[in-house]
Amino acid sequence: MTPSTVLRIERVTQRFGGVVAVRDVNLALDRGTITGLIGPNGAGKTTLFNTVSGFFRPTEGTIRFEDQDVTGAAPHVLARLGLVRTFQGARVFPKLTVEEGLRAAAHLPTGGGSKRQPVIRHVMQELGLERYRHEPAGSLPSGVMRVLGIAMAIQTGATMLLLDEPAAGLSAEELANLQRIIRDVHRAGVSVWVIEHNLHFLMGLVSRAIVLDAGAVIADGAPADVTRDPCVVEAYLGSEAHAVA
Ligand SMILES: Nc1ncnc2c1ncn2[C@@H]1O[C@H](COP(=O)(O)OP(=O)(O)OP(=O)(O)O)[C@@H](O)[C@H]1O
Ligand SMILES: [Mg+2]
Repeated sequence: MTPSTVLRIERVTQRFGGVVAVRDVNLALDRGTITGLIGPNGAGKTTLFNTVSGFFRPTEGTIRFEDQDVTGAAPHVLARLGLVRTFQGARVFPKLTVEEGLRAAAHLPTGGGSKRQPVIRHVMQELGLERYRHEPAGSLPSGVMRVLGIAMAIQTGATMLLLDEPAAGLSAEELANLQRIIRDVHRAGVSVWVIEHNLHFLMGLVSRAIVLDAGAVIADGAPADVTRDPCVVEAYLGSEAHAVA
């Protein structure tokens, strides 16, 4: 493994009965980069994230994170090593307030002050969560709940974040805030891997885009090259290619 590789996926296949959701995927992601993962519905993007983040053991292949073999390691073990993912739908602690949820994610006691408190306040302000800080997470509008899920992932102190469709259902203002916060965590040294169908949002953010179709990688490179690749246009972009280019 070269020193700059943070995550290495080798010959990973994930089968569900007769369905091959991920097919012999080989990828190496560089530390400190923002990478995109795109492709049509059902391409296997979420399954690949589930496999990498320990929610499924791969049927075949190995996963190395920070030069350790983590194949089949449980999600909480990976989180402790610094690899944290968010979910396609929002997943929060519904009964905790926004602030309590963020403290829990940061492993802080729910009452009293701490050194991390200013950081939590900053994240709440940056993501527009401040005005909801005393609201139970379960009662938030869905876009806000999604932002809270991302804020919680950031609060864990992860060194690599896997974000599954973070932009879905967000307002223009929330999208701009989210782009800014992803750039901020990236600048702080965190490696980010993002699944997204909103290509305007994604392509302004990533230095590399990987395209999955039917479980296999069909393109991988600079966003401008990938969006012009005829295979990608045919499998995924169609007429959308004009809007992205
Ligand atoms: N737990 C599971 N059991 C059985 N089949 C599954 C499971 N999870 C995913 N699949 C199947 O694997 C394939 C890939 O699904 P996946 O959710 O990974 O796609 P995706 O690229 O994330 O799609 P989308 O863009 O719609 O979120 C689909 O055929 C899906 O039905
Ligand atoms: Mg998905």
